[in-house]
Amino acid sequence: MERAVATIDRAALVHNLARVWDLAPAREVFAAVKADGYGHGAGVVATALAEAGCDGFAVSSLDEALQLRWAGITRPIMTLSQPLTADVLAAMGEHGITPVIFERAHLAALADYRGPELAAWLKLDSGMHRLGFPAYEARALTADIKAMTQVRLAGCMTHLGCADDPRDPLTHHQLACFDEALTGLDMPRSIANSAGVIAWPASHADRLRPGIMLYGSSPMTDRTSADLDLAPVMHLSAPLISRRDLGAGEPIGYGATWLTPEPMPIGVIGIGYGDGYPRHAPSGTPVAIGDAIVPLVGRVSMDMITVDLRAAPHAAIGDRATLWGRGLPVDDVAQAAGTIAYELFCRLTPRVRFDVL
Ligand SMILES: Cc1ncc(COP(=O)(O)O)c(C=O)c1O
Repeated sequence: MERAVATIDRAALVHNLARVWDLAPAREVFAAVKADGYGHGAGVVATALAEAGCDGFAVSSLDEALQLRWAGITRPIMTLSQPLTADVLAAMGEHGITPVIFERAHLAALADYRGPELAAWLKLDSGMHRLGFPAYEARALTADIKAMTQVRLAGCMTHLGCADDPRDPLTHHQLACFDEALTGLDMPRSIANSAGVIAWPASHADRLRPGIMLYGSSPMTDRTSADLDLAPVMHLSAPLISRRDLGAGEPIGYGATWLTPEPMPIGVIGIGYGDGYPRHAPSGTPVAIGDAIVPLVGRVSMDMITVDLRAAPHAAIGDRATLWGRGLPVDDVAQAAGTIAYELFCRLTPRVRFDVL
């Protein structure tokens, strides 16, 4: 009996890339594959997306970029939050990786850089206040970078902080701020994450940087993955390893946090926080067996969770439960567990076996 298995569906990934193209036609798509492809396996994800025609990839660090190169990815790769030092720039030049400049110290390192030409992007802070230079400095910074001999200013980017909420005024402010800062500066622009692709056409610009929607989760507060026709890429399953019939008033699991309200069957599924299933998932978090939802009951342990089998009374040992994926949207599980799909995907541990379809 296999323990926890995450099955990665490459056709679903390619379907979701096509949704990006539908929503924002004729733009460059740089897929966000940081954190090991949002926990799906960066090499597998990037290879499938590159074969489908994705233009390039966005990762967090030089290490992540090099892992993609070692996985055989030859398309352009940009690093989103890699501090730029002399050593880092030398490696980027050698492997053709695109740095994003977001700190003053990076400018000094770039000015001293003497390797093969680097195509760098400048990051502006348009109001999220995480990374980037103040937007009003755009003109002066562009002039500084253009004066560097081995650096080509390939474009200018910013990141949206609240695009998941279509009513949030910050996005309008950020778009206006970025636009104003770049008035008269003729260069490619990149703004949109998944929420920008879906809900903010004015953010589409030249280069899109979608992440979560490619994996089949909705970033929006007001629309589900089904509404957006996004297909789940990861299907996480684990077997029913034991079951018992209990009387009313019996406690379940550590801390006895849940009592059976009536005589009922309880199932034990072979996945726990040691696999990355969230320990803080409360009783009621959905789990699926066949077509039935069998709510989690009691505390999540390291290797097991317990479920209420009343909706699937005939579930047998060896049957596989779905923790998220086809038939159980990851966003529903994330909402029940008080987190987001991004975190559920990223926290799976090496104990989970990965299969690729
Ligand atoms: C700078 C930047 N661009 C794009 C993305 C992709 O965002 P999402 O996964 O919400 O589409 C991220 C992810 O956090 C990011 O930090």
